[in-house]
Amino acid sequence: MADLEYVRVEWDGDLAVVTVDRQEKLNALNAEVVREIGTVFEELRTDDDVRGVILTGAGDKAFVAGADIGELATMNSVSGVQVSRDGQDVFRAIERFPKPVLAAVGGYALGGGCELALACHMRLASEGARFGLPEVGLGIIPGYGGTIRLARLVGLGRAIELTLTGDMVKADRALDIGLVSAVVPQENLLDEAKAFLRKVTKNGPVAVRMALESIYRGLDTATGEALDYESSLFGLLASTDDMKEGMQAFLEKRKPDFKGS
Ligand code: COA
Repeated sequence: MADLEYVRVEWDGDLAVVTVDRQEKLNALNAEVVREIGTVFEELRTDDDVRGVILTGAGDKAFVAGADIGELATMNSVSGVQVSRDGQDVFRAIERFPKPVLAAVGGYALGGGCELALACHMRLASEGARFGLPEVGLGIIPGYGGTIRLARLVGLGRAIELTLTGDMVKADRALDIGLVSAVVPQENLLDEAKAFLRKVTKNGPVAVRMALESIYRGLDTATGEALDYESSLFGLLASTDDMKEGMQAFLEKRKPDFKGS
């Protein structure tokens, strides 16, 4: 793995745990942190030993408390576009990551931190987690995809409410509105995240990848075209060893042993 100052990667079997570690600033995203997250996901993308990724923040106070306000304060209208684009590119790469990515959110997930969690495929929160998009209170808007992804996840009305008020949402409300899949005690967050993600990674890796591909493509495409694409992927999967193994295992009343091919 490349030289990293703010991001750690650990492995647990075929899961990679990526930790943003800048605790003195509540893991806030300066340009270097964003760059390192991008580097890590780029390396993990082509690593065949990785079947799923957990993204989390160091310590129990914050997942990520937002983009670095000290850095943002110095931007002008030209560099501002670039800051937004750089973050969007990295977050988009996470969203389009070919293996499942789960955000394990303990503590604050604010601004860019909330947007980072939104770019992941799934989210798990600790009881003390807090989500919010406080940008308008700083005179800006969410610039890492938050104005698009929050509405897709929790619906237009709630997204507008949260974006315009900048209110923080506690974990139980985040669960109620579908922002997270489950809420667990802080001390179990990582173990629960691993168990949760393994419910996905025990399935056929190519099928999981194609399911993500179809779901996200469907968001950006007219229904007819999206359905055609789904059918193509469905047909493509019929040519995989994983499909043969999955169905054979069912018929033989045993667990499948997927090879990802
Ligand atoms: N950017 C830069 N620094 C940040 C930061 C951010 N988004 N969030 C927290 N920090 C820094 C604080 O400045 C402080 O640094 P210091 O000790 O050098 O002064 C340190 O992290 C600890 O934060 P602090 O504010 O003292 O903790 P707290 O428990 O009192 O409050 C928050 C926690 C999350 C409520 C508060 O830090 C906060 O509001 N952060 C900004 C959240 C935000 O607006 N994010 C969106 C940015 S677009």
